[in-house]
Amino acid sequence: MAIVSSNVDGADVLSTKTKDRVVDPSASSEESLLSQQDNLRPKSLKDYIGQKDLKQVLGIAIRAAIQREEALDHILLYGPPGLGKTTMALVLAEELGVKCRVTSAPAIERPRDIIGILVNLQPREVLFVDEIHRLTRVAEELLYPAMEDKKIDITVGKGAGARTRSIELPPFTLVGATTRAGSLGSPLRDRFGLTQRLDFYSLDDLVSIVQRTARLLELNLSKDASIEIAGRCRGTPRIANRLLKRVRDVATVRGKLDLIDQKLAHDALNLHQVDNKGLDTIDRRFLEVIIDNYNGGPVGIETLAAALGEDSTTLETVIEPFLLQLAFLKRTPRGRVVTKSALIHLGKN
Ligand code: ADE
Repeated sequence: MAIVSSNVDGADVLSTKTKDRVVDPSASSEESLLSQQDNLRPKSLKDYIGQKDLKQVLGIAIRAAIQREEALDHILLYGPPGLGKTTMALVLAEELGVKCRVTSAPAIERPRDIIGILVNLQPREVLFVDEIHRLTRVAEELLYPAMEDKKIDITVGKGAGARTRSIELPPFTLVGATTRAGSLGSPLRDRFGLTQRLDFYSLDDLVSIVQRTARLLELNLSKDASIEIAGRCRGTPRIANRLLKRVRDVATVRGKLDLIDQKLAHDALNLHQVDNKGLDTIDRRFLEVIIDNYNGGPVGIETLAAALGEDSTTLETVIEPFLLQLAFLKRTPRGRVVTKSALIHLGKN
């Protein structure tokens, strides 16, 4: 929950605690890579809802790789968090009939971490590296020959006696995922045969995802209730599924599990202060600071970060993408500007 206090100038300071939000698109520890969430993930391209263009491109690449009896080319998936990059990597492996080794860049900091993973890969396996933009330079440089020539060059010994040894690797597929494609250096970016963007989901696809999850959780959810949830999840399946679980909590406590209707979903989401556009208190506060303290903008991101008590990267990667997507916010050379639709939504027009 957001904590609001006042600074010496009397301006509101917001400690956004962006990780505690029910609409935080990044995975909570409960939803982390290999948790119970896995039972809810689709296992095949057929069951994966939405991302039509991506599925088409990957479906062809998979069939071609299977026909040629080769490893699938390396794939870079990018886009906002919570849209299904990890799920897609697991689906790819499933479709190829191989295992998926799942890791993330912060977990493979030391050379021996990445070497250990690479030398243990079986032919045609998928190696999924989340947050690939955060790889250390050493890990990244070990990956170049691994991706390009299926080998790694390691240094054995120290000082004058040090020698480089080359270790052959089986053919494999690296699936890299990032929310910040622009932060990836071109030597790494250029080694991916396919680079694909994941987009926010349409309302129809989100309704189908919520209904599918409700089925898997054995919930009797009305169509209207699924629309209510889908409309407030910021185009993001991970948030939709999380909101569904919070709705289930309220239904459990109220003894309404026999049928979860729209009214119950509406009440539960209001309880979490997620409004009908999917904004929570933090998003609203962000917009209100621009409107109330800076006359609607333009205001620089660093000024906003100071006013909100948050770092500018968090504002740029966690809060702004959805506000930009809703066209509630504009980025201009002179700073951030709130749009008329945002003023109308907040009742400040
Ligand atoms: N659950 C989360 N994302 C999904 C998707 N894209 N398709 C089906 N189920 C999902």
